[in-house]
Amino acid sequence: MVNPEQYVSFDNICKNNASHIINEFAKDLKNISGKCMDIGCGPGDITRDVLLPVLNSKATMIGTDIMEDMVEYANKTYGDKERLEFEVLDIQTKKLPEKYISKFDHIFSFHALQWCYDIRQTFENIYCMLRPGKTMLILSIAQQAPLFESLETMAQDMRYASYMGDKKKYVGSFHYSARPREDLKELLEDIGFQVHHCSHREMSNCVCTEKYLSMVTSQYTFAFLNKMTHNLREEFKNELARMFTEIKVKKYRDRLGNSKLHDEKKGTNIPAQYTVLVAYAQKNVS
Ligand SMILES: C[S@@+](CC[C@H](N)C(=O)[O-])C[C@H]1O[C@@H](n2cnc3c(N)ncnc32)[C@H](O)[C@@H]1O
Repeated sequence: MVNPEQYVSFDNICKNNASHIINEFAKDLKNISGKCMDIGCGPGDITRDVLLPVLNSKATMIGTDIMEDMVEYANKTYGDKERLEFEVLDIQTKKLPEKYISKFDHIFSFHALQWCYDIRQTFENIYCMLRPGKTMLILSIAQQAPLFESLETMAQDMRYASYMGDKKKYVGSFHYSARPREDLKELLEDIGFQVHHCSHREMSNCVCTEKYLSMVTSQYTFAFLNKMTHNLREEFKNELARMFTEIKVKKYRDRLGNSKLHDEKKGTNIPAQYTVLVAYAQKNVS
């Protein structure tokens, strides 16, 4: 279910990841002033508490998200008239509003672009919104087998298929790539970006599956849950948790050379492995 408050209460992993990357690029970011955007800002807490403070005090920020509820919540809870506002924007749109074109001095996006199945259109839009010579810093989930592969299977299950639609929507664009870093870099360069940094990093979290999935399913991609009956929704959530744990345990065992693990069934204390792509790139000056 789509729920900004629920998302805020569980988003510590995202906050830590964002803070880590912000510290790493702090030198590049501290002189940025002018107009900035945070794409896929969610409830807005990270935009206000992590991103805005690292920029020059003259910088202003627009947090954008595809979900009206998130944007309304963000404006009410974190917006101020001086430096921070939130607006609705689908970053995959083929008709970018005129008011955003060539207007931004820097664009951030954290933990959002994995839900964009038209990844080329997404980065073309970001390119288009930047002023010449200006920069973007993004972190996107690249590979997350327990989540993406469970959802991909479930999208083909007769019980859920009509609600979920195309399975592509649930699998990050780089999940099955053998060279995610190279593929992202090539895509960005092809669009016209000068890529200053592009890395593919391994991560893991030990958050309880129920909490983690509750955070994940409070997002736009899972709005279809609202259309299900109560019973079907509960069945969907249980099935997702079961498959997520099964794949998480299998991947973890594979890494450890297939040894048997304590408490495998519940998957407690077994970390979920995933990878992220981080890129810092600049729009060409001409
Ligand atoms: C996991 S949250 C990330 C929130 C925050 N940036 C963070 O790092 O925790 C992903 C957000 O991306 C938004 N999102 C998904 N698809 C989008 C799209 N096509 N355009 C804009 N936002 C989108 C979702 O509504 C959700 O709020």
